[in-house]
Amino acid sequence: QLKPKAVIVIFGATGDLAKRKLYPSLYRMFRSGKIEDFAVIGAARRPWTNESYRENVEQSVKNIDMRDKDLQAFSSRFFYQPVDVTNSASYQDLNSLIQELEEDFHTEGNRVFYLAMAPEFFGIIAKNLKLHGLKDSAGWKRLVIEKPFGHDLPSAKQLNEEIRSAFDEDQIYRIDHYLGKEMVQNIEVIRFANGLFEHLWNNRFISNIQITSSESLGVEERARYYDHSGATRDMAQNHMMQMVALLAMEPPINLTTEEVRSEKIKVLRAMRSVNPEDVDAYFVRGQYGPGQIAGSEVTGYREETEELQDSDTETYVAGKIMIDNYRWAGVPFYIRTGKRLAVKSTKIVVEFQNIPMNLYYENKDDQHPNLLVINIQPEEGVTLYLNAKKDKVGHAEPIKLSYRNNLTDHGINTPEAYEKLLYDCLLGDATNFTHWDEVALSWSFIDSILAGWRMKRPAFPNYASGTMGPDAANKLLSKNGHHWWPVE
Ligand code: BG6
Repeated sequence: QLKPKAVIVIFGATGDLAKRKLYPSLYRMFRSGKIEDFAVIGAARRPWTNESYRENVEQSVKNIDMRDKDLQAFSSRFFYQPVDVTNSASYQDLNSLIQELEEDFHTEGNRVFYLAMAPEFFGIIAKNLKLHGLKDSAGWKRLVIEKPFGHDLPSAKQLNEEIRSAFDEDQIYRIDHYLGKEMVQNIEVIRFANGLFEHLWNNRFISNIQITSSESLGVEERARYYDHSGATRDMAQNHMMQMVALLAMEPPINLTTEEVRSEKIKVLRAMRSVNPEDVDAYFVRGQYGPGQIAGSEVTGYREETEELQDSDTETYVAGKIMIDNYRWAGVPFYIRTGKRLAVKSTKIVVEFQNIPMNLYYENKDDQHPNLLVINIQPEEGVTLYLNAKKDKVGHAEPIKLSYRNNLTDHGINTPEAYEKLLYDCLLGDATNFTHWDEVALSWSFIDSILAGWRMKRPAFPNYASGTMGPDAANKLLSKNGHHWWPVE
């Protein structure tokens, strides 16, 4: 097993992401022996000390099966450095601390700078790291960036230019945590390791592909960020587009980062851009009103906080994406995602074309196409829907072949995805991070949808909490003779 060495500097160390995802991920890696020679510097504004920081780190991993001995050995590698990211002195202090820890922990000058904080500071931090010599060590340097990567194409470009003035593209790791999910990583294996699927994986045999990522939670404490973003920027521009790319890409000539990325980029280039005037033919937006989730009453989005009372932000988006290339011409890729929907579930349904004639069902109009369902979460696995004989000859019924990944360690929102991605970053494997070209292409696709929507005010709210979204999303499919397959 490779055991990468590094000092990891986490900007935003007192924040939610660090607590919920990063510390547990680091702890698991430490426990499983993936990392030994490492130290973590928590950098943030608050005047914490090493002691209070370590207590917080310990708290954040306390739900993981722990041994006290391990926990102390773990948290003793954490150091706190108060920083003002706009102030030169902060970077000088940080550099001295890094150098000291490099000696003590034998990390060979390898440095990860993890930006787990508000995006308006990404550019400033990247520039200052370079300016104050924090990139001048003997080992490798990597910059990890959380979303959102811009608000639209122009702002993403500007952010990218700022970062690129300090770091090279191959030093930049843009996180999309969906790419760390086990079953998202499995998409390409299921496709390219099985003739059964890959030979049929095209417009001659596939009718349509549906990607649903539904959530039952509302905006929770993130109203400020979310209201500025909306479901399309929050989920579609990144996670959903990445899944489309993995489902639609050509087989890469090998599994290197460059080859996989270049195939994904080709898909994003082939996506038919939607003319803003035609947005309604391709995309549907929604916002939740009051309703019931698991038997309890919940409020609508506009009632969540005072500042949301006139909000036109979409908490739901569904869309039809056409990929105009040889393999996919004519096959819709439907995506949908939203808050306060009936279930928490992420699934991909690949609907194969029906056979020309229905010999075995009494109602000859019954449609039971074969479906391949890739279950991303909460359960992980694959289900194949087939038809087989029922009771007497001449009758058929749908049957299911299911494979379920072992669930012991998995679950919604576990740090699993982050653990994989952090380890990849330490190893220098950027395959499951997004390249700038992917970010740019998906923004340019999304920007025209948003431009179309800006042309008129939506009639919100248009779906009740606890449902599967607005009716218009059903019409989007039914006008092509399709319907959403249930994801519960
Ligand atoms: C994040 C979004 O990127 O993904 C959140 O900002 C969303 O709004 C989350 O809830 C969903 O992630 P997961 O792993 O729970 O599907």
